Amino acid sequence: MKRFDQKKILVTGGAGAIGGAAVRRFLDEGARVAIVDRNGAAAQQLARSLGENAIAIEADVTDEADVRRAVEATVETFGGLDVAFNNAGISGVVAPVHDLPVEDWDTTIRINLRGIFLVLQASLRAMIKAGTGGSIVNMGSSMAGWDVLSGGAGYVASKHGVVGLTRVAALDAAPYGIRVNAICPGVIETTLGVPASGDGEFKSSVQHFADRIPLRRIGQPDDVAAAVAFLASDEARHVTGVDWLIDGGQTLQSWANAPDGGAFPKFR
Ligand SMILES: NC(=O)c1ccc[n+]([C@@H]2O[C@H](COP(=O)([O-])OP(=O)(O)OC[C@H]3O[C@@H](n4cnc5c(N)ncnc54)[C@H](O)[C@@H]3O)[C@@H](O)[C@H]2O)c1
Repeated sequence: MKRFDQKKILVTGGAGAIGGAAVRRFLDEGARVAIVDRNGAAAQQLARSLGENAIAIEADVTDEADVRRAVEATVETFGGLDVAFNNAGISGVVAPVHDLPVEDWDTTIRINLRGIFLVLQASLRAMIKAGTGGSIVNMGSSMAGWDVLSGGAGYVASKHGVVGLTRVAALDAAPYGIRVNAICPGVIETTLGVPASGDGEFKSSVQHFADRIPLRRIGQPDDVAAAVAFLASDEARHVTGVDWLIDGGQTLQSWANAPDGGAFPKFR
């Protein structure tokens, strides 16, 4: 018996790196999965490569009608919705608060917070209507949802918002047997997580990050997918409202514990 046998699942940003890893994981464990992405061509290509249990839906998570259509299409095609991985997001422009163009702020908040809200709301409505419970996993961030990133005002505000929204939704949804959790990954080896212009630069950035993470490795999309699958599964039936760090210990590195700083003795 696989954990997601007979389960009907929707993944936003499913054509991207982390979303794609989650889609594969859910399919491997027996689910039927709707890959929802604004990049319809990439979603189609991925769905075709994964076989008959995957479908592609082109939708922009910032558009209420698009989101409603995506959830309805999933319910109609599969006969219900058990799990939503609310993952689509962007990194936003990097600039100090006093220089950040308002339109960049608006774009980041629109996708990373309004988009998460709309998918959360539409998924909850479908699950409540069906009366069969469910599980929703929202995408937060360790560096932006727990910590702060200089120059990342829109991204940090949106991911802090996701953590708060998740906790409210967990309370509101609990009476219906629906769990709502967030995951907060650290640096994950994707083009969004490791900004670099060329391949050589990407590899050296990956090494740069890995050297500064206590577990001495950079996170992989599969590491995130494994945690998402746990939270989405019935194994996590008593878990709701958490924001779960998946960051190799990255957020433990306060100034006192940093490899190159701090006033306290090092033990190795
Ligand atoms: N990579 C990291 O280090 C990292 C760390 C913490 C959190 N995250 C979060 O993980 C999520 C996925 O990131 P990733 O690294 O896989 O990036 P990615 O760029 O590979 O994937 C993002 C996907 O979201 C889709 N998307 C963007 N805006 C959309 C919209 N308005 N409507 C529908 N789809 C949209 C894109 O087309 C893309 O397929 C993001 O929310 C990101 O903030 C990433």
